[in-house]
Amino acid sequence: MTTTGTTANAGASTAPRRVVAGPRGWPFLGSLPRFGKDPLSFFEQLRNRGDLVHWRFGRTTSLFVADPECIGELLAHTEHTFDQPDLGVAFRTLLGNGVVVAKGKDWRRKRSLVQPSVRPSQVRSYAATMAACAVALADSWTEGQRIDVKREMSALTQRIAVRTIFGVDTAADADAIGRAMEVAQHEIGAEFSGIGALLPDWVPTPGRARIKKATAVIDAEVGRIVARHRAGDTDRPDLLSRLLAAQDESGTRLTDREIRDETVTLYIGGHETTSSTLVWAWHLLSANPRVREALTDELDRVLGDRTPGFDDYAQLTYTQAVVKETLRLYPTIWLLTGVAKQGASLGGRTIPPGTRIWTSQWATHRDPRWFRDPHEFRPERWMDGAEEIPEYAWFPFGGGPRACLGTRFALVESALILAALSHHHTLTVHPRTLTPLPGLTLQAAGEVEGTVRRRK
Ligand code: HEM
Repeated sequence: MTTTGTTANAGASTAPRRVVAGPRGWPFLGSLPRFGKDPLSFFEQLRNRGDLVHWRFGRTTSLFVADPECIGELLAHTEHTFDQPDLGVAFRTLLGNGVVVAKGKDWRRKRSLVQPSVRPSQVRSYAATMAACAVALADSWTEGQRIDVKREMSALTQRIAVRTIFGVDTAADADAIGRAMEVAQHEIGAEFSGIGALLPDWVPTPGRARIKKATAVIDAEVGRIVARHRAGDTDRPDLLSRLLAAQDESGTRLTDREIRDETVTLYIGGHETTSSTLVWAWHLLSANPRVREALTDELDRVLGDRTPGFDDYAQLTYTQAVVKETLRLYPTIWLLTGVAKQGASLGGRTIPPGTRIWTSQWATHRDPRWFRDPHEFRPERWMDGAEEIPEYAWFPFGGGPRACLGTRFALVESALILAALSHHHTLTVHPRTLTPLPGLTLQAAGEVEGTVRRRK
């Protein structure tokens, strides 16, 4: 089995790829109305037309990239020949100039300073917090309890993020940051999918005012926590301590402002993406009792009566496959977009500068050319030797130089949470069918209710 990694498979085939025409679209608007109405189906339709599909997003010439080899090539050349789009004023207000927003030399420096704090060897030390928070939630659940699954997963991943990133252990600190982050995150999502995305930066809107207010609270709280860390020892097992100790090649450390931007970036990058992944996982497990049984069989075999910890992760291979398969069917980052610069090419074709490039995890992850019965939830396909899956047919964490910094963090966190909660409980989600809502992340629309039953 070949799965995705961070190395691109650029230029493996020699014949230039064919660029096929997408739908003709409307004068001036192009295919914008179809995209706006149902972007997930629209991208699947483009994918069915070919590997590289030409279409118009309003008046902008766009190219949809469906083929894994070309996706690898695209991701490998981010920064050089493909530019990241501006994520908007709301994003910049909250994230400052953190690694997601930064570009060029500044981005390279920041990425090299942040990366060591989330490398796999460090994730081991965060895993104890992940497991402890999940076990505490499992212990609080009672037989027959009805829960709001979205709220519960969001609160759990928030607790983990606040503790692993900022190392705060008092409920008051954690609540103040968590509440302000929640407001800011909600407003960013609303701005991204609403009219705000079309307005110039200087237009004041109530949503932008709320983001500013929440950002001020976050700045004050993070400032207090950083000062406390600086005054005490920095040899604590949290991300903030690692960032405070990080030095670039000239021996320069991150400033307080940069520390603030990076910690908020890591929080925002990892919170909603992981909590939504878990909601989708509960939905898929509820609809597939056979998979749930295979999962609990593994938990009984590997854990016995113990609670899960990092040392179990490597052995929880089916649990890991459940997470990968969830991210295949419901990739919480479902779309990547960029703009071609001078010298850009894909699949042996020159791409005119200014062309807007789109690729969608949702569409490629459901391509029947790469996945047998693509709409079926089948974690077994990720078990050794089961299916031959080309590199970049699965890319929930992107790839290339801009690949997600929290990949290992997210995979370990999701698996430990599923393990801790499924070990003693069965969580059944209603309704049976959930509608995906593609915004900044791919969320389930409406309320998601769950019923808890004790297993043992
Ligand atoms: C299931 C959970 C997650 C998913 C699906 C996800 C997905 C992604 C994707 C697709 C990108 C690349 C975006 C692009 O190319 O424009 C990305 C970037 C990033 N992610 Fe994640 N992510 C997840 C969890 C996390 C976590 C837990 C953290 C932090 C601990 C994190 C931190 C970041 C950062 C800092 C970047 C920017 C990297 C850069 O621009 O150099 N992510 N993520």
